[in-house]
Amino acid sequence: MYVFKAAVVGAGTMGGEIAQVIAASGVGVVLKDIDQKFVDTGLEKAREVTQAQLGGLVAKEKITQEDADRQLTEITGRIAGATDYGAFGDVDFVVEAVPERMQIKQAVFEELDAVTPGHAILSSNTSSLSISEMGEATGRPDKVVGFHFFYPASMMRLIEVIEGEETSEETLQATANFAQQIRKTAIRCGEGPGFVVNRILNSAVSEIWKVTHEEGLDVKEVDKVIQESKAAPMGPFFLTDLLGLDTVLHVAEHLNDSYGDRFFVSPAMKDLVAAGNLGQKTGKGFYDHG
Ligand SMILES: NC(=O)c1ccc[n+]([C@@H]2O[C@H](COP(=O)([O-])OP(=O)(O)OC[C@H]3O[C@@H](n4cnc5c(N)ncnc54)[C@H](O)[C@@H]3O)[C@@H](O)[C@H]2O)c1
Repeated sequence: MYVFKAAVVGAGTMGGEIAQVIAASGVGVVLKDIDQKFVDTGLEKAREVTQAQLGGLVAKEKITQEDADRQLTEITGRIAGATDYGAFGDVDFVVEAVPERMQIKQAVFEELDAVTPGHAILSSNTSSLSISEMGEATGRPDKVVGFHFFYPASMMRLIEVIEGEETSEETLQATANFAQQIRKTAIRCGEGPGFVVNRILNSAVSEIWKVTHEEGLDVKEVDKVIQESKAAPMGPFFLTDLLGLDTVLHVAEHLNDSYGDRFFVSPAMKDLVAAGNLGQKTGKGFYDHG
């Protein structure tokens, strides 16, 4: 199946960039959220990312400023913002990127099942939740699949294509093809908690969270040491602020529930989330983002 038109539901930390990736590959995309102000933030994010990418090509003299201006108009012109499902009647592929809560995701999948054509594939950008449970909210579980981008979606090449219990072989193949169409590299994995990447990443990061908590270390010092050692481009606490503390906490708790205490849940992160400090998106997390 070739994807002529796509949709992204949820225009937050991930959704705006996912829409940008799809539009930059030449495919038209609807970006939907529940409120126009979130849609506008997502559209603005897509514009900023496109501008930065094209600016890089101009700096390397690969394209002229005139080409960059034209491409910026073309790419951003392929993204249509929406607060309802009016433009979903002819989409081929949907990426759901709403908050990491099964109840919200199931409600969205039920709605998507009603408003999209029967052939459309309904995918989820979930970091850890069950694809099969999302499929249960629809009458087409064979066409429900995981499509997990990594932050920041405009730069990270990998996508996990996750197989639910009912996902058909045809859907998995079409989803891997769509990943290729939008210039990403797909790996197929089962729906074990955390899938592949977050299970590995969190096992390392949770050890850092644990030692920081037990020894009463300063998170900024921990980040500084890790960054200066070049073990990672940035420290885990700053990265968590960029990803969104609520999202990271949900994944950590899910892995802890699934695999036990070897996946630590940071009490400091829990306290910040309880106080509504979710990182960069709310202006404060482990760091103050002004
Ligand atoms: N943040 C990350 O680094 C990251 C990385 C990979 C995957 N994910 C996954 O992507 C998904 C989204 O995460 P995020 O960080 O972008 O979350 P976010 O909180 O930044 O954004 C979620 C957006 O969904 C919108 N929303 C809520 N209910 C909605 C509905 N019913 N219909 C349409 N929009 C709705 C919210 O208004 C918000 O704009 C989660 O499943 C998360 O696990 C996140």
